[in-house]
Amino acid sequence: MGSPKTLSTARLTLRAPRRGDEDALFALHSDAEVMRYFSEPPWTDPDRAARQIDDDAAAFERGGFFRFSIVLKETQRMIGNCTLYALHRQNRRAEIGYALQRQHWGKGYMNEALEALLAYAFNDLDLNRLEADIDPRNEASKVCLERLGFIREGFMRERWIVGGEVCDSELYGLLRREWKGAPA
Ligand SMILES: CC(C)(COP(=O)(O)OP(=O)(O)OC[C@H]1O[C@@H](n2cnc3c(N)ncnc32)[C@H](O)[C@@H]1OP(=O)(O)O)[C@@H](O)C(=O)NCCC(=O)NCCS
Repeated sequence: MGSPKTLSTARLTLRAPRRGDEDALFALHSDAEVMRYFSEPPWTDPDRAARQIDDDAAAFERGGFFRFSIVLKETQRMIGNCTLYALHRQNRRAEIGYALQRQHWGKGYMNEALEALLAYAFNDLDLNRLEADIDPRNEASKVCLERLGFIREGFMRERWIVGGEVCDSELYGLLRREWKGAPA
């Protein structure tokens, strides 16, 4: 599994994070509404963005953790990201995570980005299974996952403590043979 190429959809480019993404990444992670159901509280330190980009770019290059910056083709600006992580080669599975700047919600962008991420995971990386762990209150995220064919497989109590708030998890899974893009 080498480093992936850039992924392209009708309206979006998905590529490795790079310097220049700092402002967009900080805007994403400092927005309390975007971070409402995330696994960490909103960022308050703008320098965190550059550190995160450097770490993520290095991990992307090594090939075990892919946080793709989602770039709107029309403006060439980063509007969010989606991540393939916890790659387990023997079991051919990984987890996904994703977030979009609030002004871009509701336009189908994340569905479009995740379709490309899933194709990359199943076709290029030859994975068999993808997983997502979401807050049960995160309705937009559920819609996104179910539209892609993910099945709700489990519920774990008090799995996260974020900024002092104890949160449950809903676990979703998608097998390659169930995926809409699977060969007939
Ligand atoms: C989850 C998220 C990425 C969805 O992005 P998006 O581009 O708006 O997603 P889409 O437009 O493809 O689809 C969202 C769907 O959820 C629906 N939706 C949004 N909020 C909803 C709510 N509170 N209840 C029910 N449905 C909701 C939208 O109407 C839309 O469905 P529609 O196309 O039928 O109208 C975005 O809301 C986000 O960044 N949230 C914050 C970060 C986050 O929670 N990430 C997931 C953690 S793993």
